[in-house]
Amino acid sequence: MNLAGKTAVVTGTSSGIGLAVCRSLLDAGAVVFGLSRRETPLVHEHFRWIQADVTSDIAIDQAFDAILAQFDRVDLLINNAGFGFFRDVESIEPAEWRRLIDTNLTAMFLCTRHVVPGMKAAGSGMIVNMGSVAGKRGIKGGTAYCASKFAVNGFSESLMEELREFGIRVTCVNPGSVRTEFFDHAGIEPKKYMQPDDVASLIISLVTLPEGMLPDELTLRPI
Ligand SMILES: NC(=O)c1ccc[n+]([C@@H]2O[C@H](COP(=O)([O-])OP(=O)(O)OC[C@H]3O[C@@H](n4cnc5c(N)ncnc54)[C@H](OP(=O)(O)O)[C@@H]3O)[C@@H](O)[C@H]2O)c1
Repeated sequence: MNLAGKTAVVTGTSSGIGLAVCRSLLDAGAVVFGLSRRETPLVHEHFRWIQADVTSDIAIDQAFDAILAQFDRVDLLINNAGFGFFRDVESIEPAEWRRLIDTNLTAMFLCTRHVVPGMKAAGSGMIVNMGSVAGKRGIKGGTAYCASKFAVNGFSESLMEELREFGIRVTCVNPGSVRTEFFDHAGIEPKKYMQPDDVASLIISLVTLPEGMLPDELTLRPI
């Protein structure tokens, strides 16, 4: 996909990987809408921040109503918003569990259903879902987070199979540790990190591959 003039929506843009992805998309010439609860610290003529809690059906509906009132369709959706905690299973409150699943998994479904009709009509489009290496193997303390990211992989693979016949590409990106605010609250401290800008540049590389190539999944780790 040539990103010049394309419409992109990114969730979780106030910090970390989502913020870095927005910058890279703007550099590549896209018009970018960013969704987050805290303000996204980006000033650019082609960037609009929409305050939204992605766990709210109503907030998501209102955000996409506003976007689709301005543009015929969304060409690129990056489902990135998420958080994690690593704790003993018996210390996790049901409301915490549900909030994590709502944020990391259900929000992807809520956003995806708004962009698919326009992409189908256009016969093109791309959806990038943020998984994790924690979605490929279980981690001590990660019952909630790993469950959410394993589910993201299952959601993504099924969506990929469903949409490829319409010319729509679905990719699940599974990073290892990235130096972001994620670890301010996660309760673990990795030994090695990648940088958010590096993950963003990888995502741009996947998005800008020739339309005939479908990168369905990519795992990347720090060295
Ligand atoms: N850092 C890592 O090592 C790593 C590795 C693999 C995968 N990931 C995944 O990468 C994604 C981004 O994380 P990050 O590392 O960049 O962490 P981060 O810096 O903490 O960014 C998380 C973003 O998600 C947003 N978000 C969280 N809950 C939200 C909600 N209810 N509604 C709207 N936005 C919400 C936050 O915005 P607000 O707080 O302003 O709402 C923030 O912009 C997550 O899905 C995470 O699981 C991270």
